[in-house]
Amino acid sequence: MKAIVCEKFGPPSDLVLKELDSPIPKETEVLVSVQACSVNFPDTLIIQGLYQFKPALPFTPGNDIAGVVKAVGAKVKNVNVGDAVFGFVKMGGFAEEVIAESRAVFPKPPNMSDPIAASFMMAYGTSYHALKDRAKLKEGETLVVLGASGGVGLAAVELGKLMGARVIAAASTDEKLALCQSYGADDVINYSKEDLKNRIKELTDGNGADVIYDPVGGKYSEAALRATNWKGRFLVIGFAAGDIPKIPLNLPLLKGCDIVGVFWGNFAMKFPNENIANILQLMQWYSEGKLKPHIHATYPLAQTPQALEDMMNRKVRGKIVITN
Ligand SMILES: NC(=O)c1ccc[n+]([C@@H]2O[C@H](COP(=O)([O-])OP(=O)(O)OC[C@H]3O[C@@H](n4cnc5c(N)ncnc54)[C@H](OP(=O)(O)O)[C@@H]3O)[C@@H](O)[C@H]2O)c1
Repeated sequence: MKAIVCEKFGPPSDLVLKELDSPIPKETEVLVSVQACSVNFPDTLIIQGLYQFKPALPFTPGNDIAGVVKAVGAKVKNVNVGDAVFGFVKMGGFAEEVIAESRAVFPKPPNMSDPIAASFMMAYGTSYHALKDRAKLKEGETLVVLGASGGVGLAAVELGKLMGARVIAAASTDEKLALCQSYGADDVINYSKEDLKNRIKELTDGNGADVIYDPVGGKYSEAALRATNWKGRFLVIGFAAGDIPKIPLNLPLLKGCDIVGVFWGNFAMKFPNENIANILQLMQWYSEGKLKPHIHATYPLAQTPQALEDMMNRKVRGKIVITN
């Protein structure tokens, strides 16, 4: 089977397409014939050796998969050979076949395409965990989403509306903001042209936002934190801009607000039942037509490096997906 292999840490152009042996599932694992695997920003970091953990070389990146079960381990009860599934794997999704823990795969609803199924888990899982479990977002509150047209950002816009918030989407181009509006954003801020802090204040009668969702970092974090309401919650999601900001601690003091960390992957491992309950709620909303992942583009397996480059160059709106 073919797989994208990272043999040394570096840019996407260092990745190679190789023919590898088909993996064999252990007792609690399944072998999935991959139809689609979406690209997430952490994929761009992990291949450069810049993520929270460095995998041993060589490895195949890619986590968010959809496909068909090809073989099951002796103790697997929840899925059978031939089942269409989607789920989250530790590694190896940018390939024709991948091993998954059986409890990390879910039956794929018949009305869900493979690219959409592969785009679901991390984007919606992260944003729902962030807004519901960490921010405890309430109906009528104002939510500001930075990087709002990105994978997790657009999911936060959609979920924020679904949870009854007023959503202000912030992004770097008018095209990206138009997509956010089509997903229900009430107001938009183009932070490459407008002053982020002042615009949030203007749009909230000087009060600031109740919840800030920040997957971008860099210079935007402090500006947004300065426009947080009393008792606000500032969600630390990620640092797509590259710099991890250093925040003056007088800001949360002055605003009586919380800076709240979010790490969906660890939450899903430490609290699998809570995560599964969240995913089932999200699947229910999908089946009711309330969520519709936006697929910006699909790429064949051999073009995975190009897909990663496009994400790093801020060319992506919603999700991009590698398909076999
Ligand atoms: N905490 C968690 O559990 C968790 C889970 C998943 C992802 N994340 C993190 O969330 C962030 C977003 O992930 P994603 O998959 O949604 O990525 P994405 O689709 O690429 O979205 C990231 C957004 O960040 C903005 N951005 C600003 N500066 C950028 C730069 N220099 N390079 C790239 N993008 C830049 C872009 O929007 P504009 O052009 O509009 O600024 C882009 O749409 C990443 O940092 C990722 O590691 C965290």
